[in-house]
Amino acid sequence: MRLTVIGTGYLGAVHAACMAEIGHEVLGVDVDAEKIALLADGRTPFYEPRLQELLTRNVGSGQLRFTTSLREAAVFGEVHFICVGTPQRQDSPAADLRHVDAVVDGLAPHLRGSCLIVGKSTVPAGTTSRLAARVRALAPEDTDAEVAWNPEFLREGFAVEDTLRPDRLVAGVTSARADEVLRRVYAPMLDAEVPYISTDPATAELVKVAANSFLATKISFINAMAEVCDAAGGDVTTLADALGHDTRIGRRFLSAGLGFGGGCLPKDIRAFMARAEELGVGPAVSFLHQVDEINARQRRRTVDIAREMTGGDLAGRRVAVLGAAFKPDSDDVRDSPALAVAAAVHREGAEVRLHDPQAMENARAVLPQLEYAPDVDKACEDADLVLHLTEWIDYRRIDPARLAQLTPARRILDARNALDHPLWRAAGWTVRALGRPQPPAVPSQHTATQFAPVYSADLG
Ligand code: UDX
Repeated sequence: MRLTVIGTGYLGAVHAACMAEIGHEVLGVDVDAEKIALLADGRTPFYEPRLQELLTRNVGSGQLRFTTSLREAAVFGEVHFICVGTPQRQDSPAADLRHVDAVVDGLAPHLRGSCLIVGKSTVPAGTTSRLAARVRALAPEDTDAEVAWNPEFLREGFAVEDTLRPDRLVAGVTSARADEVLRRVYAPMLDAEVPYISTDPATAELVKVAANSFLATKISFINAMAEVCDAAGGDVTTLADALGHDTRIGRRFLSAGLGFGGGCLPKDIRAFMARAEELGVGPAVSFLHQVDEINARQRRRTVDIAREMTGGDLAGRRVAVLGAAFKPDSDDVRDSPALAVAAAVHREGAEVRLHDPQAMENARAVLPQLEYAPDVDKACEDADLVLHLTEWIDYRRIDPARLAQLTPARRILDARNALDHPLWRAAGWTVRALGRPQPPAVPSQHTATQFAPVYSADLG
């Protein structure tokens, strides 16, 4: 089939490459000429595992092409996927639908024959029917264009895998024909394993925001428990393991720490609350205010613990920050909890040296006032405190005994609860985390020499 994918950000670029990979002829469209030139050259504009491989193969074979012209897209496609961003508005928590509207306005007048416009972006309930009216008003009279919604559930870092092997496909359609067209698009990856849920557009739109609200709630729930654990002397990771064994609850998304960020969860729950207000059911989802507030608390709590660990004042302290991306395997720093903490610590007068395996360039664009270190050693050299803020596998592989030689203060705050704390403590580090009990303040000499005999002399 001939498909267009309009918007080539994290969602669209991956969708375009995956649709080409499963055998469709795909035209990717974006207003950003620089990005289109890069993609047309088979190069990915951001870091996402496996995307480069798919682009090389499908751009090389001619299966995937790119353009900045919506007119060309309108003429080319039988199905048009809208994958543009729906960020939070500047003046309110609601979703900004300007990009979605601009796509419809640019595409509709050039449509011809019969086609299907399929929204994938996360939008407020009711958007599909509003856009359908807009298409009817703008498309030439002899055009038969329908609008459907097919939300995308991909996670950054696993975007290719999630797109090619989705947990489920949800189609919000208003006709059997639209349903049939979408099933044909996805036929190459549809088997008995992938549930295909055909429903009305409003339900489809809601599935996406409901899923993200649930995930955000799960994270804030466990972070609230972490704070209670800190007060009661409990251990939130053991608590989460024990809860997770209940199959009704499940262990995934119960990792306590710095909380959620990124381009989706934070803005989606806020837009959902705003839309619910408009629909007159604001009180039904008011708990999401708490979810958002608990999430913000984790950032403040992390800075508080950092301050405590440096003797009550961060001013003039050298702080190494490990991680800038909002989560590992991504270079995305949108609403990154790691960057929020790095900025707050810097505001309190600390000298911040930051490292991230992929997101340094994006971080520097947002926070040019920080220092950027080319590797972990340079970031941690002589640091009064190390903050572990994004749980990249590289950081879990650090040898704490080796790093201790560069960082005599040996203080680390593991705000992602991802490091092997006994190992770090055995190497002489003071380790703090959110929701984890601290061992007795003065470890016995016996324990220290038993676990770290090699370096004890170097550390003085
Ligand atoms: C999310 C949804 O998972 C995805 O289905 C949707 O399509 C887009 O939004 P994404 O933003 O890529 O995906 O990241 P996700 O893996 O969900 O993580 C979101 C945030 O939650 C990250 O900052 C992550 O660090 C945090 N998180 C996740 C936790 O703090 N604890 C957890 O247990 C899980």
